[in-house]
Amino acid sequence: MEERINVLSPSFRANPYPRYAAMRTSSPVCQVDPGGMWAVSRWDDVLFVLKNPALFSSQGFKAALEPPWIGYNPLVHSMVALDPPAHTRLRGLVTRAFGGGATRRLAPKVERRAEELAGKLVGDVDFVEAFAIPLPAFVIGEILGLDSSLHVHFKRWADEIVAITPEPSSAEHAAQVRTTIAELSGYLRQVVAARRQAPADDTVSDLIHAEVDGHSLTEEEILDFLVMLLLAGLETTTHLLGSSMLFLATHPALWEKLRGDPALASPFVEEMLRYDGPAHALPRITTAEVTLAGMTIPPGSLVLVLLASANRDEHHYADPDRFDLDRAAQGSLPFGHGIHACIGALLARMEVRTALEVLTRRFRRVELGAGEIRYNRTILVRGPVALPLRFS
Ligand code: HEM
Repeated sequence: MEERINVLSPSFRANPYPRYAAMRTSSPVCQVDPGGMWAVSRWDDVLFVLKNPALFSSQGFKAALEPPWIGYNPLVHSMVALDPPAHTRLRGLVTRAFGGGATRRLAPKVERRAEELAGKLVGDVDFVEAFAIPLPAFVIGEILGLDSSLHVHFKRWADEIVAITPEPSSAEHAAQVRTTIAELSGYLRQVVAARRQAPADDTVSDLIHAEVDGHSLTEEEILDFLVMLLLAGLETTTHLLGSSMLFLATHPALWEKLRGDPALASPFVEEMLRYDGPAHALPRITTAEVTLAGMTIPPGSLVLVLLASANRDEHHYADPDRFDLDRAAQGSLPFGHGIHACIGALLARMEVRTALEVLTRRFRRVELGAGEIRYNRTILVRGPVALPLRFS
């Protein structure tokens, strides 16, 4: 029997794409470590899973991100981890905050903040720290109406909650993550209390006054919701900014091309989302026995839906390992599909496009700086967490 792939091993995390390609060819539905989860790697099968929430439940988030050592993880009690009908009711509440109108209203503020941050990119910098974290933190802070002094904490909160593993790496690690969850919930509880006293024009106030089937949301439901929005809007966009700039720093001709024609920022973002998008896998749990690509998956199994592999499926894209600005990659799966498809997709695209327009306008060159490029170690999202760049 072939040795099982460990999706958390450093060699897999460093570059999972060749392993994804091998999986698609020889074992498109197979078990992987840790824990013998089932991985689904081909485009058609990924789409099948996402189109069938009754068979593949989003309670998979609970199985993946709330192991017993954690206690309570607000993320896995939020909308992203719910199935219909509870999911359907909650989803209606937030779509307004992330639609085209809201995104257009935010665009000038995003551009101003991107200009400010770009002004500090002098010489050698860690791009993640200096730009890729603060920009999405600012945006989600604006939407939720959170105090800007808290932005510096957002990323640590997000990192620790998204990186939860079946076992903690140490007792200290376990204590740290539990403290982070308590800290984040405690802070958001204060924000909710303040908005109850003095409502504002923001998502927190909207949630307090929202009614679902004639009932207001409970305090816990509001907190779970806010944690989910904070994490969903942060981690992914930071990684897309980082991966985009890493690619451009190592492909100077492409940087030149974007500098020459700012309209190319949009197709660049689309192809980057397909080629090396941040959302690698989504967790689902089977509600019944199901046969997929000839493999029988038992009920109650944790399934990893490999979006990043589907986005490189050779049966769907010609020459999928080539970055092709002319590909028109719309229709790829970087934001998921179906009832849980990302509600922040317009916003995320706008943030990264604006950032690229600002950066290509300001800098003639960008290249790799001294120091190590480090990647995160989570199963669900992937991107650089340290990216030394030199701007000139
Ligand atoms: C859901 C990706 C940015 C809010 C999702 C899903 C994916 C995804 C793949 C589907 C989850 C599932 O099916 O289980 C991304 C990527 C982003 C990004 C790649 C950036 C490049 C954002 C932003 C926000 C956001 C900026 C908002 C601030 C959400 C929410 C959901 C979601 C609320 C849950 C939707 C539901 O359960 O119905 N995202 N996302 N995302 N995303 Fe995003």
